Amino acid sequence: MEVFESILSRQSVRTYDKKDVPNELIGQMLEAAVHAPSAGNIQPWEFIVVKDKNTKKELALAALRQRFVEEAPVVIVVCVNLEKSADRYGDRGKNLYCIQDTAAAIENMLLVATSLGLGTCWVGAFEESKVKSLLNIPERLRPIALITVGFPIPYEKPRRTIRIPFESVTYSEKYGRIFGWIEEKSTEWRLKLRPLEEHIKKLKERMVERKR
Ligand SMILES: Cc1cc2nc3c(=O)[nH]c(=O)nc-3n(C[C@H](O)[C@H](O)[C@H](O)COP(=O)(O)O)c2cc1C
Repeated sequence: MEVFESILSRQSVRTYDKKDVPNELIGQMLEAAVHAPSAGNIQPWEFIVVKDKNTKKELALAALRQRFVEEAPVVIVVCVNLEKSADRYGDRGKNLYCIQDTAAAIENMLLVATSLGLGTCWVGAFEESKVKSLLNIPERLRPIALITVGFPIPYEKPRRTIRIPFESVTYSEKYGRIFGWIEEKSTEWRLKLRPLEEHIKKLKERMVERKR
């Protein structure tokens, strides 16, 4: 699956097939994660892969009782090493860079998961202190996301979320100045730009197939 296809087909999946996710696939997700860019190449991320039923149950409780966290075959707990970033970049490293770095790593994971046929959901609503003590996470690390992973159930397609068009959130040169050159162009026109043309064509064909 090409990268743009993966971006467009990724959506949060919250119902999963019960079958296990092979470690090889989890490994590919993590490989993608550690190839993300990071400030000063510090790579402040660390991961805990959870498959144990009881631990997932506790994670779901910590995640404000979001049941699908318990039901997902795998939960990847993503942590940032605050000390690593703070040592090099001080407060900006601790409060901004390490979070940005790790978010990039997470998105890499989600996109590769999609290309592998896996469903994921990025869960940010959880009590950090509960997750820390449950998983023996040391003080220097902050858990910032739970990524639920599993094979989606084919007949339970999640509803597509809608995006604000980029023209509505993009300005030209200075804030507030409309990005005029693209304004008059339709989405159809933009998607015809190469090299996306072929990917979009394939995507559209697949969407038509799905509707049948
Ligand atoms: C930082 C962050 C935190 C999120 N936390 C949750 C969460 O706690 N529970 C949940 O069900 N989805 C969570 N999501 C998923 C979003 O709801 C979802 O990405 C958004 O609605 C767009 O839908 P899509 O992922 O299907 O495109 C989170 C996403 C992000 C990026």
